[in-house]
Amino acid sequence: MKMVVAVIRPEKLNDVLEALFRAEVRGLTISRVQGHGGETEHVENYRGTTVKMALSEKVRIEVGVSNHFVQPTVDALLNAARTGEVGDGKIFVLPVEKVYRIRTSEQDQDAVTPVAAVAR
Ligand SMILES: Nc1ncnc2c1ncn2[C@@H]1O[C@H](COP(=O)(O)OP(=O)(O)OP(=O)(O)O)[C@@H](O)[C@H]1O
Ligand SMILES: [Mg+2]
Repeated sequence: MKMVVAVIRPEKLNDVLEALFRAEVRGLTISRVQGHGGETEHVENYRGTTVKMALSEKVRIEVGVSNHFVQPTVDALLNAARTGEVGDGKIFVLPVEKVYRIRTSEQDQDAVTPVAAVAR
């Protein structure tokens, strides 16, 4: 199992959600975050110019998936979140040690498999 963590442009969220839905990804978490992706602003002050690390509004998406779903999830994110301009974001794929579905106490593979696959 993996946790796919993506930081994307807020304006790409709807496209990304649609792409993930098409890829049959069902469980995810979204948060609004602020991030820095290398871009800097030059700020003038009385002693000269300093550089300020700019923060921009981003959306963080976390998707816990079984191994089979890793590539479809990454592909959906790559295709739907790209504009081609700097600042499109990042995708991190992290190992996941353990997953529980609280309602049923199912674990791991069973716990990340979308319930929709069995009971709609
Ligand atoms: N190494 C990183 N660790 C954690 N978050 C990051 C990292 N790099 C980028 N991010 C997050 O992703 C957001 C977008 O980053 P950004 O798209 O600028 O990445 P980049 O690697 O600089 O790519 P680009 O060259 O397209 O700008 C950042 O605002 C930040 O929230
Ligand atoms: Mg950048």
